[in-house]
Parts: sequence; C-alpha cells; structure tokens
Amino acid sequence: MLNASTRTAALYDRVRRVIPPLEWPAFTDDIEAILDLKRQRNAVILAHNYQTPEIFHCVADIVGDSLVLARRAMTIEADVVVLAGVYFMAETVKLLNPDKTVLIPDTQAGCSLADSITAEDVRLLRRRYHGIPIVTYVNTSAAVKAEADICCTSGNAKTIVEALGVPQVIMLPDEYLAQNIAAQTAVKIIAWRGHCEVHERFTPADIRQLREDHPGVTVLAHPECPPEVVAEADFSGSTAAMSDYVGQKKPARVVLMTECSMSDNVAVEHPEVEFIRPCNLCPHMKRITLANIRTALEQNRHAVNIGPEIAGRARLAVERMLAI
Ligand code: 13P
Ligand code: SF4
Repeated sequence: MLNASTRTAALYDRVRRVIPPLEWPAFTDDIEAILDLKRQRNAVILAHNYQTPEIFHCVADIVGDSLVLARRAMTIEADVVVLAGVYFMAETVKLLNPDKTVLIPDTQAGCSLADSITAEDVRLLRRRYHGIPIVTYVNTSAAVKAEADICCTSGNAKTIVEALGVPQVIMLPDEYLAQNIAAQTAVKIIAWRGHCEVHERFTPADIRQLREDHPGVTVLAHPECPPEVVAEADFSGSTAAMSDYVGQKKPARVVLMTECSMSDNVAVEHPEVEFIRPCNLCPHMKRITLANIRTALEQNRHAVNIGPEIAGRARLAVERMLAI
C-alpha cells in the first residue's frame, strides 16, 4: 500500500492543472482522513460533475451526471454512501438504497429548480390537466416525485417523453429544459416556470462575445440554459454528454456554458484542449467541501430519511425512468 505522502503526491499529479501548488497543502489532511474513513466505514462517495476537483478527482469513487449517479446508486455494495452534490441527489440515492446509510454533508445544499415547485402544485396540475402524464425532472424533492408518473434527467428527457407514447405531457419544473426538449420532439409539452439560477444567467450575447474574443471556440451549453442560448451553441447536452463531447471531438478550444467546476474536472482529463472559462457558480453545490465530507463520515451526519409513504411512490417514478 502507498504511504500517505506518496498517495497524496500521486493525487496532486492528477489535479495540478487546476489546483495551484499553494492551495494543495490545505487539502491534504482532509483527503488523507477521508480515504481512511472510507475504508474503516465501508463507505463510498458519489460526486456530481459540479463538485470541486479536490473532491471529484481525489476522494470520489463514482462521478457523473444525475443519470449516472442514479444508475450507479442501484448497484452500490457499501454500507454508507456520501453524496457530494445537492439534496435531491442524496434523496434519489436513498430512494434506491432504502436500507443503506445515505449522508449529505450539508442539508442546505438545495437547488432553485427543486425549490420552484411543491407536491401541492403537482396535485393541482394533475387536476387541471386530467389524464396527461407528468414527467418530473430529478431536480425535485421526493415529495414532488411522489406525485409524478415518471422522472427524467437532462440526459434522457427526450427519450422519456417519447417513450410514454402520448401526444402531450407535462414536464416540470424546468421551463427551459422543457422548451429545449419540445424543440426536438413532436410531443407537445406543458411546462412549469422553474429555472436554474446558474444556467438562466447565460445569454446569447455572452456566446457572441466569446466567439469574437476566442475565434474558433466550440460552445457547449447545458439544456437548463434558455432556448436562445442553446440555439447559438454548437452542442447541448447533460453534464456527462458535454464531457463525452470533449473526449470524443477534442475541440482545440471549448467553453462549457454551465457550472464552473465542470470545466476544471473535464480539463484534468484533456490537457490538449484549451478551456475558456466564463462560468457561473452553483452556491448549493459549493456548500460541499472536503471538510464537511470528512465530518459527515466521522459523525455519521446528515443521514437522509424519507417517510415510507412518499418514498414508495417517489421510488416508483425513479424506477420507471431507470427501466427505460
Ligand atoms: P446533469 O444531470 O446534466 O448533471 O445536471 C444536473 C444539474 O443540476 C445541472 O444543473
Ligand atoms: Fe440546481 Fe442549477 Fe445548482 Fe444544478 S446548477 S443544482 S439545477 S441550482
């Protein structure tokens, strides 16, 4: 087995392009402690693509977009799962692993989309649009999922909407994702008015300016961006799809219209690609730190629990999605 300093030196080699040498010593204690705690507690760490590189590349066991994290959550064998991401992601892991301890290092790690709609809103929609299936983005609370027919993520939204085999669906809560999917399908989509506070801030003018300042830049946009932003981008897809695009097409210069850590994490894997970095921070994702992941494992907090009645119905919506 590698000794502690050899182990952290090997990890630093991986992230040296995105973490300055002066900052690295601030992370090594927590990284060492977390690696030991994971072994002692038979724990795994799932990290979303928006987690900072010292989490994503140095302590996480499974990384990806919401769909990958949900899929991989179904086959976890550890006793304890720490979700480095936001609360709805931890709830999804708990729904799929009801007998495991699922920890979120900060319970305030929310999401503006999840906060934009309540279970009561969904019940009202159900009454108003009787008979029309309700597709809910995974960026929602378990209580909202419990009222829906099926979930989707940004990675599978079009597939899910079309798999229902109906002319019209309700898709909530992200208005822009709904509009971006509506532009790709014949299925009519009724949308809610929720927005991601990170992606709604990008504008078509930003893209035009980027193309002027960085000739030849390839622009990738997350589908939570407004449709007029997606229309000016070269490609739109989930965080995993954007990462795959860079890996497969290897553009000389690229900009990711999404959360800031995403570029850092993808840049680590592709030193030959130049990343242009205007980006927006997600304050909720940034609540997760090495320090609170360490505390989560040391003190077994904060355990995610969902009442059995809501969990049963919400699990069905997630499982229906994963079966497609
Ligand atoms: P992805 O499923 O594409 O990773 O998106 C999750 C998210 O919260 C984006 O803001
Ligand atoms: Fe929610 Fe937007 Fe943050 Fe993703 S980036 S967690 S959608 S607020």
